[in-house]
Amino acid sequence: MIVLDKENRVFTLHTQNTTYQMKADRHNILLHTYYGPRISGGDLSYLIQYADRGFSPNPNEVGDERDYSLDTLPQEYSSCGVGDFRIPSIEFEPEDGSRLADLRYADYTLYRGKYALEGLPAFWGGEEWETLVIRMKDTAAKMSVELYYGVLEERDLITRAVRVINQGTETVRLQRCASLCLDFQRDDLDFITFDGCHTMERCPSRAPLRPGIQSVNSLRGTSSHHHNPFVILCERSANEDFGLCYGAMLVYSGNFQAAAERTQLENNRLVLGIDPYNFCFTLAPGEAFTAPEAALVCSPGGFGQMSRQFHRALREHLIRDPYEGRRRPVLMNNWEATYFDFTADKLVDIARGAQGLGIELFVMDDGWFGSRDTDLSGLGDWSVNLSKLPGGLEALVPRIQALGMGFGLWIEPEMVSENSQLYREHPDWALGVPGRPQARGRSQLVLDFSRREVRDYIYEAMRKILDGAGITYIKWDMNRSLSDVWSAALPANRQGEVYHRYVLGVYDILERLRRDYPELLIESCSGGGGRFDAGMLYYTPQIWCSDNTDAVDRLRIQYGTSFCYPVSAMGAHVSVSPNEQNGRVTSMETRGTVAMSGTFGYEMDLGRCTREEREIIKRQTAFFKEHYDLIQKGDYYRLSDPFTAPFTAWEQVSPDRREALVSLVTGPTQAAAPFRRLRLKGLDPNRTYQVNGEGAYPGDVLMEAGWPLPMPWGDHQSTQLYLSAL
Ligand code: GLA
Repeated sequence: MIVLDKENRVFTLHTQNTTYQMKADRHNILLHTYYGPRISGGDLSYLIQYADRGFSPNPNEVGDERDYSLDTLPQEYSSCGVGDFRIPSIEFEPEDGSRLADLRYADYTLYRGKYALEGLPAFWGGEEWETLVIRMKDTAAKMSVELYYGVLEERDLITRAVRVINQGTETVRLQRCASLCLDFQRDDLDFITFDGCHTMERCPSRAPLRPGIQSVNSLRGTSSHHHNPFVILCERSANEDFGLCYGAMLVYSGNFQAAAERTQLENNRLVLGIDPYNFCFTLAPGEAFTAPEAALVCSPGGFGQMSRQFHRALREHLIRDPYEGRRRPVLMNNWEATYFDFTADKLVDIARGAQGLGIELFVMDDGWFGSRDTDLSGLGDWSVNLSKLPGGLEALVPRIQALGMGFGLWIEPEMVSENSQLYREHPDWALGVPGRPQARGRSQLVLDFSRREVRDYIYEAMRKILDGAGITYIKWDMNRSLSDVWSAALPANRQGEVYHRYVLGVYDILERLRRDYPELLIESCSGGGGRFDAGMLYYTPQIWCSDNTDAVDRLRIQYGTSFCYPVSAMGAHVSVSPNEQNGRVTSMETRGTVAMSGTFGYEMDLGRCTREEREIIKRQTAFFKEHYDLIQKGDYYRLSDPFTAPFTAWEQVSPDRREALVSLVTGPTQAAAPFRRLRLKGLDPNRTYQVNGEGAYPGDVLMEAGWPLPMPWGDHQSTQLYLSAL
């Protein structure tokens, strides 16, 4: 609910459990007055303290009112170069070369429903949303800035976006445009980021904010494996179940920066948006720039509640799942089974080996096109390699379908190999500065997706494949970071637009795919989880979580990922043991338990499994299908932290709390293991549950007294407890 106090120019955004407030003050500065647990409201500007602080200057119009400084007041969207020395939200340069932004409140619009952003992913929905648009103006530069707020009350979600419009008669260069600025009038916050590398993504890292700026970012052109565009600020004492925390995500898949600053007054500022590195948009008179959407959830009840709100909001108001209301298929992918070394017969053999095990979709991974026998060549030539697959997809797909499986395909549309027909014909279609040989990544170059003709060509090539042959799924991969970012299609003074235009180009093709193939299931991927963000989830309901398929490493990766993203978004497969990335040996049960808290599939030659393993696989796929809604849409509870605890446990609870699934994987084994109990969460204290079909255990007992942990016998053993209310 958005409450306006017109007289005092106070804007209060209430969600079910939180309140957010801002106020336009007597100098038309938009002050941020409160964000936290839900309160009744009123004008909270009495909280703001005014005092003269040395070297904190005063706007000209306040005269000698020395205790009024932009440098000390909590700002809703920070200015630049006019007396606030904390992180700016915006920077622009008119033709006079000045670099000041002094934004003052102008007016507002309020309506039911959710704003949309042209060409950009954004949360969507109907009457359950309210939108507030606040217009700010820099009158000297004739720049107008619209701050968008979307309020989804039930999910405690507040979205934000920013649109900058050049209303003058001169050209302006926009050099920074953050999506979110949030000033906290408090001094006890920890900053949590989700960091890692290829094959070890999104590991949480937590530290108290110290004086100065702490930030994570990506300059890779993608959101990256290394830092995620999702961060948390929280009270120092906050944990899974208690304490105040604020989650902030960017709905964007390119360069980003999340910067938190602890100031001279021991307050904190968070700024989230596109990283200003090599970002510069030229705005001719009348032109506008829209910054990607950011979204906030504040949870007064710890990280668990925050995550559950994000999961629901993402599933119900961001992800557009063609399978909504239906179950997505259990798939098998041939990558780790064959790598590049396959023929049609070999694939059919592998599919045959998967028959009878509950597999519903066969995915042919990399290596089916052009001259692609290794990762040195072929990208860009999206026509079937007929020596590997005689008769093409038209011959192969029906053979797979005859085995009772749908057919899916890997593709990497944004890339080109130098050894390809496409590159030989259009070398300038790759990003790169003439006369400066580009850096290669995985021996490949990046196509300039900022260019329409490049996108059109690739899209047509994709259409030819998709129109031909009963394909129900694609895995859209992206296997390198961007370098040599320069586009032959833009003049020198507009090269700072290429990073962002590239991302818009990717979104454009994904949107065309959604429009033309509404039933196509798309899983995105970037060397595993290198582009795991809400921007991609808007187009692709699932993302391959990591190239690391080891169940034990995955416990950590999926744990970190779960702070923001739902189980239904995490691509996860069972692969061979010893694992191909780290040599670890784990049981089929453990691998299945971990992978089924994701989209679930297998990435191995199932025909080579023992009879016992095949029985286990049958049970796993049947169990997954039977409990699909619980696993994928249930409320998610983290029961332990795999980075510190001797075991990893998590739980999904159905919304009516009649069912729950607890999954647990022990750590390294140990003789004379301590006796341990696991306390469950989220159950109905007044109901009695059977555990794996037996007994009668009251919900309060299971939550307060717990369940005895199995004694580990061997490393990394798994257990699943299925609870159903009597
Ligand atoms: C990336 C993906 C893998 C696989 C290979 C194929 O690394 O993450 O799953 O598709 O590319 O080259």
